[in-house]
This record gives sequence, C-alpha cells and structure tokens, in this order.
Amino acid sequence: MKKIIIANWKCNPTALKEAEKIFKAVKKSSKNIRKREIVIAPPFVFLPVFKNSASHLCLAGQNCFYQEKGAFTGEISAKMLKDSGVKYIILGHSERRRIFGETDEMIAEKIKAVLRENLLPVFCLGETKKERKDKQTFRVLEKQIKIGLKKVPLKKINKLIVAYEPIWAIGTGKPCSVEEALRIILFIRKVIARVFNQKAARNIRVLYGGSINSKNSSNYLKKIDGLLVGGASLNPEEFLKILKN
Ligand code: PGA
Repeated sequence: MKKIIIANWKCNPTALKEAEKIFKAVKKSSKNIRKREIVIAPPFVFLPVFKNSASHLCLAGQNCFYQEKGAFTGEISAKMLKDSGVKYIILGHSERRRIFGETDEMIAEKIKAVLRENLLPVFCLGETKKERKDKQTFRVLEKQIKIGLKKVPLKKINKLIVAYEPIWAIGTGKPCSVEEALRIILFIRKVIARVFNQKAARNIRVLYGGSINSKNSSNYLKKIDGLLVGGASLNPEEFLKILKN
C-alpha cells in the first residue's frame, strides 16, 4: 500500500496568490511520484480553487462540523467539503483540541459525520509533554481512542486513518524518535484490536506527525504508514524532498 504524506498547511498562507504558488510548485515537481499518496490540506477557502486542478494530488479538510447543514454560524460540514473535492478530513488535531476546546466526544461525532459522507477521517491523537513525563501517554491515548472511535461502525473501520501526533513534538523541532513512535503505534493498534478486532488493528493505517522535515522523514517512512507534515509542507522544495525520500 502507498505511504500517505499529508501536508497540513494550518492557517497559512494568508493570500490565494501565495497558496496557488505553493500548490502549483508541489503539483509540478511531484507529478512523477507514484509511490506516495500526496495529500494537501489547505485552509477551506482555497479548496474550491484547487479542486479542478488537483490531478495526482488529493485534497483534505483540516476540520469539519458534525452536522450536515443548518443554523451553525461559522461552521463547515463534511458534505460541503466533499463538494469542494476533498477525499480526507483531518479531525481532532491537538490545535483544535487545545485552542478550540474540542472534546473526544465532539471528535467522535465528527468522525461519524465524515464516514457518513464516505470520506476518510484522519483521526489525530497524542499526549502533552507533561503527560509523557508523568508516564500517562498510554492512558491518555487509550481514552482518546475509546471515545473518539465509539461511533465508528465496524464495517467502516477500514476507512479510518490514525495519526499519532505527540503534542510536545509539534512545531518544536524535536520529533519523537522512530523507536518511541513505533512503540506507541503498536499500542494504538492493540487498543483498536480490543475495541474492534485484530484484522482492523492490522489493516488500519497509522501515520506519525510532529517536526518532520526532509532530513528525518526517510527514517519514519521505512517503518510507518505515512506522515502528517506541518511547517515543512509550506516550502515546496522541502516538501518535495520529503515526498521523494
Ligand atoms: P509540524 O506540525 O510538522 O510543524 O510539527 C505537524 C502537525 O501539526 O500536523
């Protein structure tokens, strides 16, 4: 199976012109890369502009609301994102949880909404620096998984993608080592096996995210199903190196 590399642009860049420049540069330079599923998650407003020219690139939303439509000022639904051409939707990113107060329960509703549209949820989970120091990582992750996935029907489990994103590694330049990430991914699979079954745990794709760059990416890609890349994905040359690794 192809490794997935997701470019999470977060709230960047601030103008369409700049966004198109990055998008076009990535598209052009990566057109012969077949061994990777390349996914761009730009801010919502750029999606309809990229939709018809995405070619080999896939699009992702960075979040969505769990209702389809209605009186929810400021929200965007999975159905709308589907119409804007996305295949994936990132959910439960630590910035959503921490800054915007998203709870495990809300994330569970969002995952359900994304599956209802037959899109692929990229379910992010991870522990803080303090939780890691206090040896709470497994407890924290188990809770995030058990609540976050409680509305996933067994027949749709194969659509789920999990992204292990330790909060202490995001944007800090201090990634989690490959060994530690592998240990935690194994634990994530064990919990999924308990909640669903062994087959689901084996088949589910678990990505890593947090301070990935062109120098460290190949070490992860040897053993992990894919990567979620933040800062480095806004620089087309750097991102291309990650894709080629
Ligand atoms: P980073 O962000 O690569 O800038 O650390 C990763 C993420 O938040 O997905």
